[in-house]
Amino acid sequence: MPDLLTDLRDAIGSEHVLTEAADVEAYAADWRGAYRGTPLAVVRPSSTAEVSAVVRLAHDAGVAIVPQGGNTGMCGGAIPSGDGSQIVLSLGRLRRIRAVDAPGGTITVEAGVVLADVQAAAASVDRLFPLSLGSEGSCTVGGNIATNAGGTAVLRYGMMRAQVLGLEVVLPDGRVWDGLRSLRKDNTGYDLTQLFIGAEGTLGVVTAAVLTLHPATPARATAWVALPSVAAAASLLPLLREYAAERLTTRELVSRPALELVVDAGLQDPLSSDASWFGLIELAGPAGSSVDVDLERALGAAIELGLVLDAAVAGSPAQRTGLWALRERVSEAQESLGPTIKHDVSVPITSLSSPVDQLAPVLEAALPGIRPIIYGHVGDGNLHYNLSRPVSLPGDDFVARTESLSRIVHDATAALGGSISAEHGLGSGKAAAASAYKSEVEVDLMRAVKAALDPAGLMNPGKVLPLQ
Ligand code: FAD
Ligand code: MLT
Ligand code: ZN
Repeated sequence: MPDLLTDLRDAIGSEHVLTEAADVEAYAADWRGAYRGTPLAVVRPSSTAEVSAVVRLAHDAGVAIVPQGGNTGMCGGAIPSGDGSQIVLSLGRLRRIRAVDAPGGTITVEAGVVLADVQAAAASVDRLFPLSLGSEGSCTVGGNIATNAGGTAVLRYGMMRAQVLGLEVVLPDGRVWDGLRSLRKDNTGYDLTQLFIGAEGTLGVVTAAVLTLHPATPARATAWVALPSVAAAASLLPLLREYAAERLTTRELVSRPALELVVDAGLQDPLSSDASWFGLIELAGPAGSSVDVDLERALGAAIELGLVLDAAVAGSPAQRTGLWALRERVSEAQESLGPTIKHDVSVPITSLSSPVDQLAPVLEAALPGIRPIIYGHVGDGNLHYNLSRPVSLPGDDFVARTESLSRIVHDATAALGGSISAEHGLGSGKAAAASAYKSEVEVDLMRAVKAALDPAGLMNPGKVLPLQ
């Protein structure tokens, strides 16, 4: 493709069109090394106009584009195919915060802005941007929008979808749709903004967004609890809400094997409990609010009812950070056991203990010695039912069994009316499985949307919907 590469260099500068193996390496594989591709080139435009020029040139040359933000995704959505035919479009240079409107409760940011920088910009005007993920120091707003990211504050604020008021999108043919509105109400037809959220870059490239800001919540009360069972973790939710109402922000679950991983990595276990399940609870409110009293009363009631066995409450910001790390570091700590087969399932909250109770013996029968590392966002009915290899099985042999092992987890989830991807999306890794669990009508509708917006099929092909 010498002509296309020359045109791209003319459009955005030759130093931003990378083709050398050493230069493209960081964009060619995901952070776990679970997905690897071979990009034709990596292009790094710095503005919406440059993104538009790149996409138009690629479209006219019939070359596919793979958008990439912070490359922290879990399902290979930002990784190109292995045949050297696709361009990775990195949004990392679109990193301007265009406007902050504290009284109006909005912030307008470009797609490459890192999530932690949006949170900091909100805090600098005494507001909160509530999306919170373990990857917030690296993931970008564009990736958060494209995956409809979830995380640890969904219980109170909803997913990324709920934070987006307007979008600017470069369409697959290079046209720019300026939907950067900050309206709270707008019923003028199909909701195009929502259509691009969670589309994983298959319908267009998000270049900027108007996001909502919330009142700051400087008063925080955080506890790490030992739990008798997953059923107790589920029953705890309505009880906590009784005491904390909307101030309940976080309700996370960590199994003992997951806790042991972060403790082995150097973190301190604040309870010497032999429980099988643990949880992180956080209440947050405006300055002066009584979240600590509410938490104490709620925990007292939970202990009395046998829903909580023991609790450690953070007495300082440093202790709070320590409790949060016990949950947030699990994902990375699991990689120390070798390759992980990841699952991101959601079920109705009242069914939460079913997959946990049912799956362990079935998986053990399928692969003796397999190690489930379970944790997740229990307040949202979302479990990361991740699997690590038996100690004696080589990593490659374990990975080769992904399809059959995942089918066990996904079948059990589907039987409960659940979803096989609660928050991570589908990428290339789960696209085929998701289509298999959806009805023909639903898959037809999704294909019709894709064909309407991307008739040439050049925008992140093979992601979300499998290639036909
Ligand atoms: P990338 O990985 O670069 O891309 C993800 C997808 O979005 C790809 O399909 C890509 O093509 C597309 N994309 C990226 N930018 C754009 C754009 N501008 N326009 C169109 N498409 C685009 N996720 C959760 O939901 N909840 C969690 O709790 C959570 N915890 C995590 C913890 C850790 C330690 C790690 C490493 C990851 C975690 N993730 C979590 C997954 C990941 O961080 C999120 O999916 C995040 O939203 C991805 O953002 P990114 O910028 O890294 O996107
Ligand atoms: C998390 O919640 O920590 C991630 O979304 C889960 C994972 O790494 O599987
Ligand atoms: Zn998660």
